[in-house]
Amino acid sequence: MDRQKKIVSMFDDIAKSYDLANRVLSFGSDIVWRKRACKKAAECYGKKDVERVVDVACGTGDMLQFWQKELSAKEYLGVDPSKKMLEVAKEKLPQFKFIEGYAQNLPLKSQSADFLSITYGIRNVVDRMDALKEFHRVLKKGGVLVILEFTKREKSTPLDKAVEFYMKRVLPKIGGFLSGNKEAYEYLPNSIDGFLTTEQLVKELRQSGFEIEEVKSYSFGISTMFIAKK
Ligand SMILES: C[S@@+](CC[C@H](N)C(=O)[O-])C[C@H]1O[C@@H](n2cnc3c(N)ncnc32)[C@H](O)[C@@H]1O
Repeated sequence: MDRQKKIVSMFDDIAKSYDLANRVLSFGSDIVWRKRACKKAAECYGKKDVERVVDVACGTGDMLQFWQKELSAKEYLGVDPSKKMLEVAKEKLPQFKFIEGYAQNLPLKSQSADFLSITYGIRNVVDRMDALKEFHRVLKKGGVLVILEFTKREKSTPLDKAVEFYMKRVLPKIGGFLSGNKEAYEYLPNSIDGFLTTEQLVKELRQSGFEIEEVKSYSFGISTMFIAKK
């Protein structure tokens, strides 16, 4: 199995317990990060008339709920390659549309989305530059891209070391207990170490044709929000 398929199959395995583990392991703080991202993106877009919001790597669909609270769009669409994550999403949120697909090859028309988000997903996309180009293709001119992600950081301060201890020692044990799959929760800190720094992701966004509107880190730099415009 290739690396990308292995990653998706891991999400298939943890789909049923994903929401619970997410809330427990982030102490609910992801709710604040998601709300702020939707609010900032809506401010940045400015227009009230919104046709379509696309959430890529939507998993169990949570981000679409935050979008719906922030703006009123004609369509909210979730895309993810994991069948099992989508099963949970469809059962939980029947009001939204969900389709199977990879970020690097979106089954969507060019210039068809006002907003496109990818939350805690871009780290899992092996062909990342292809995906960023796809996001640019699918967004309308002036459309807004939102990325929430755990970027790679220097671990120099005592606080950084405490965060690392939590991510590498505590989180896999709790995540493993809740999901029955410790490996999946060991993958999380390892994938962050193997990912880009905030500055490197900004550079890739610019290379893909985006203008950066705002980059902000939350909760001692654990989660970073990127807002970019086509
Ligand atoms: C950590 S979950 C994030 C789910 C959701 N966005 C959230 O904020 O809770 C990562 C998701 O990325 C999806 N994924 C992995 N590789 C992907 C790819 N190449 N394209 C799109 N989604 C992908 C997985 O199936 C999984 O649902």
